[in-house]
Amino acid sequence: MKQQEAERKAEKLRDKLEYHNYRYYVLDDPEISDAEYDELYKALQSIEKAHPDLITKDSPTQRVGGQVREGFESGTHETPMLSLQSVYKEEEVERFFQNCRNELKKQKVRLVAEPKYDGVSVELTYDYGRLVRGLTRGDGRRGEEITANLKTIHEVPLRLQKNKTTSLPSHLVVRGEVYMLKQEFVEFNKAQEANGKKTFANPRNAAAGSLRQLDPKVTAKRPLHIFCWEISDATEGRPSTHSDCLKALSDFGLKVCSEWEPVDSVTDAIDYHHRMEDRRDDLSYEVDGCVYKVDHLADRETLGTRAANPRWALAYKFTSRQKATRIKEINAQVGRTGVLTPVAVLEPVKIGGVTVSNVSLHNQDEIDRKDIRVGDTVMVERAGDVIPHVVKVITNKRNGDEKKYQLPERCPICETKTIKPPGEAQTRCTNASCPAVLKQSLLHWGSRHATDIDGLGEKVVNQLVDQGMVENIAELYDLSADALAGLERMAQKSAAKLVKALENSKRNSLSRIIYGLGIPLVGRVMARTLAEEFGTLQALSQADEERLLQIDDVGPAVASALRAWFDNPQNKKLLTALQDHGIDPHLKRRTKSKRLEGKTLVVTGELTTMTREEAREAIEMAKGKSTSSVSSKTDFLVVGTNPGSNKTKAAQKHGVETIDEDEFLKLLGKNQE
Ligand code: IVH
Repeated sequence: MKQQEAERKAEKLRDKLEYHNYRYYVLDDPEISDAEYDELYKALQSIEKAHPDLITKDSPTQRVGGQVREGFESGTHETPMLSLQSVYKEEEVERFFQNCRNELKKQKVRLVAEPKYDGVSVELTYDYGRLVRGLTRGDGRRGEEITANLKTIHEVPLRLQKNKTTSLPSHLVVRGEVYMLKQEFVEFNKAQEANGKKTFANPRNAAAGSLRQLDPKVTAKRPLHIFCWEISDATEGRPSTHSDCLKALSDFGLKVCSEWEPVDSVTDAIDYHHRMEDRRDDLSYEVDGCVYKVDHLADRETLGTRAANPRWALAYKFTSRQKATRIKEINAQVGRTGVLTPVAVLEPVKIGGVTVSNVSLHNQDEIDRKDIRVGDTVMVERAGDVIPHVVKVITNKRNGDEKKYQLPERCPICETKTIKPPGEAQTRCTNASCPAVLKQSLLHWGSRHATDIDGLGEKVVNQLVDQGMVENIAELYDLSADALAGLERMAQKSAAKLVKALENSKRNSLSRIIYGLGIPLVGRVMARTLAEEFGTLQALSQADEERLLQIDDVGPAVASALRAWFDNPQNKKLLTALQDHGIDPHLKRRTKSKRLEGKTLVVTGELTTMTREEAREAIEMAKGKSTSSVSSKTDFLVVGTNPGSNKTKAAQKHGVETIDEDEFLKLLGKNQE
C-alpha cells in the first residue's frame, strides 16, 4: 500500500473506531459486534505496523501506551480550578439563592442541579477535536499531567465526534470527575487482596490511586469511568448556558451524567437534593451531595468569584457517612480458618441511622499502615454496601496515652503460638483443633447458606465444644437427643428438634456441603462452580491443582487452598466420617449451564438467595452478560426487593422483560440448589 493511501485508510479507520468506541462505552449502545470492532482494530494495527511513522497519538491503538514514567510533569490550568462552597443546611441553600437573585437583580434565576460525584476531578483539553492534554486538579492553578493515564479510560474520547448540531470549537477545555463504580470497586479490591496488593478504603481513593500510576498499563487495568461536568474554556461556539454546554458535551461524544435537572426555585433545588439522597444507595457510583450552578454563563460573570469559590455555584452535601469516634480497645477474634482478626471496640456512634460499635481492622499490616492505636480518635465510614471501616486516625487528637497494638503471640483461645508468615497479611493460630476454630467451623457448617441447621446456634456450639462433646463436624451426627438435653437451657423438645434438623441436614446439595466445609477462599459461588464441575466430593477431593486451574473461575490461590485442605489428614478423616454418616451428596445433573448464552441481564434490589455480586457471577457462569444499567440491549431485568426505580423505569422504556428471583433461579437452572 502506498504511503498516502495507507494514511487515508488509517485515518478513516481511526474515525470509525472512535465512533464505535463512543457507541459502546459512552452510549452503551453499540452498532457493531465485538468481532466486527476487533476486525477494524486489527486492520488499523496492520497498517500501523507496516507504516510506523503514520501512528498518531490519538490513534485508538495508542490508548494504552507510552513508557513508565519517573514522575509527572506539571501543567498550568488556563482557568484556575476552583473548589465549591459546601453547605449542609437548607437555610444555607436559601441564602445562596437569595444572594444570586439580589446580585443579579432578578426575581427568578435559573440554576442547574447535578449530583456531586465523589471522585477525582480532572481537566481534558481538545485542540481541533483531538485530546492533547489531561491534568489533575492539583492546587487549582497547576496540576499533574496524566494524559497517558486518562487515555486508557474508554469513555474519554481521543477524538471528538463531529457532524452533530453543535459545531466543534478549535480549542476546548472540559472538566469532569473520574470515578469507579461501587460494584467494580468491591471486585477490584477483592482481586487486589487475593493478589496480596494494596486495597483501598473507598472508590474515590481507588480512582485517585489508579490515576497516579506511573505505568499507564496499570491504570488501563483499573475500572475507571468519567462524568464531564463543565466546559471551562472554548475558543468559539461555547453555548450561553450551562445546560446547553452539557448537551454540547454529549454531542461531542463526551460522557455526561443524565441526572442533571434545571431548577428554578429553592423548593425545586431542595426537592432534587432529597430525591438524590433517597437514591444514594441505588446509584451505581458514589455521590456525596448535589451541586447547584447558575445556568446563564453571563450571570456567572456578574456574580464572579470569591477567594477560592465561585459565587455562582454551591455544593449541598448529604449527611456525612463518616464520623469520628474513639477506639476503646482492640480484641483479637479467631475465625474458622484460624485467622486472628483485630476488632476495634468503639465508643458507639450513629452513622447514617445505624449505631456502629465494632469495626474490623482486618490484620496487623492494616493497623501498622494506618498507625491505629488503642485510645485513638478515628474516622469511621459506613457507606452503602460497604461494611464499616476506619478511614484514618485523627492524629491531632492524640494526647500521648495511646497504645500501639500488636496481635497476640499466642491464640487468645487455646494459647497456641500464632504465626504470621512473611509476605502474608494474616496472623493465624497454628492449632488445628483450636476450640475457636472448631466453634466457628461448626457454626459455619450449620449456617443458613450451608446446611441450614435450625437450633445450632452459638450457645449450643459453645457448650458442645467446651464440654468436649464434639471434636469435629461429623461428631455432630453422633449426638443423641438425650445427650443434647443435658445442655444448659436445652429442653427435651428442642433437643429432639435439633436431632431432627441434623438428620435433615444430611440431604443438602453438594454445593451447600462444599461451602459448609469452610475451605478457605471457597464461598458460595465458588462452591457451586466446583459442585457443577465435579459432581461429587470424592471427585473434587482428588482433583490436582492443574485440573482445578482448568476451571474458569479458579485461580492459583483457590486451587492451592483446595489442595491444602483436602491433603490435610484431619480433613481426610472428616470426609470419611461424614460419608459414614450418610453425607455423600451427588450433583443432580441438569442441563449444562450455557443457559444464558448471548443474554444480557441487570439485577436490581436485593435477592434472598444470593448477593448481587453472586448473582452477577452466576450470570457469567451461565455464559450470560451482567451489566449495571438497563438499555435496549438488556434481555432481562431481575427485580429483587427494594428495586431501583430508575432501572424499572428504564426497563419499561426499552421494553425489557422483568423477572423475579424465582424466575431468575429457573433461568439459571438453580432452583433446586
Ligand atoms: S463544578 C468551581 N460539578 O467538587 C468549581 N464539581 O469542590 C466547579 N465535583 O473539584 C465545580 N461533582 O471534583 C462540579 N457536578 C459537579 C461535581 C463537582 C463533583 C467536585 C469536583 C470539584 C469539587 C469542588
